[in-house]
Amino acid sequence: MKTTIDGLQMQVAVAGEGEPILFVHGFPLSSAMWEPTLERLGAGWRAIAPDLRGHGASDAGEEASMPRLGRDLVELLDALGEERPAVIVALSMGGYVALEMARRHPERVRALVLVDTRAEADTAEAAASRRELAERVLAEGSGVVADSMVGKLFAPEARPALLEAWRARMAATPPAGVAAALRGMAERGDSFDTLRGWKKPLLVVVGAEDAITPPDAARRMHAAADGSRLEVVPGAGHLTPVEQPDRFAALLEGFLGSLPRLH
Ligand code: MLT
Repeated sequence: MKTTIDGLQMQVAVAGEGEPILFVHGFPLSSAMWEPTLERLGAGWRAIAPDLRGHGASDAGEEASMPRLGRDLVELLDALGEERPAVIVALSMGGYVALEMARRHPERVRALVLVDTRAEADTAEAAASRRELAERVLAEGSGVVADSMVGKLFAPEARPALLEAWRARMAATPPAGVAAALRGMAERGDSFDTLRGWKKPLLVVVGAEDAITPPDAARRMHAAADGSRLEVVPGAGHLTPVEQPDRFAALLEGFLGSLPRLH
């Protein structure tokens, strides 16, 4: 379905009945990356899987800072009449957005599942190269990003057909959305204070062969957040829920089953 958030049309898939669980995709992807997880999700959940602004079938705005993307998600929960705090399952850039929600709207977050992501801000060099890449994408198209990222998305043994399918998906993300998200990621801050103050359940998951947000980044998040759990998944790169869907779904199910009841 489509809904209007901050004047932009946002695509969102909503399925099932029960307690809210919000799935936040990575860059430059869409909610399609959660299909293997949604197919395996047990009963008792209202799954909400949006396309972030500028991604998938959602409109792009001028700005896509991480706080703005987090506000979009809070407004989406409001638009869906969802007042209960949601479990947030978020991958990579989705994790940056989830950490913004945890920082600015903690009352809307029941628990966090941070997948293949990191809490560090970009270095000055990384931020500068993202801004340059944003200019190139506007001039040459999203294929520039798709070509540079595709080789790092999966474990080295991944099938070529998988790479080609995901390269095509990334290349289909509109240049305006890709460029705005690149600028938004470049300006994001460090989230370790948020993790240190986080007292609710947190599961950190990372592919053992993640070349974009490697296991050490996940270990640092786990070390910062008291009581968090860390799972390193063999045979997965940066898109663990896509590459190891059964294992990821089992980890998620176990975590969901361990949550304190929603009052
Ligand atoms: C992502 O997968 O969302 C991005 O690669 C994250 C990033 O570039 O920092």
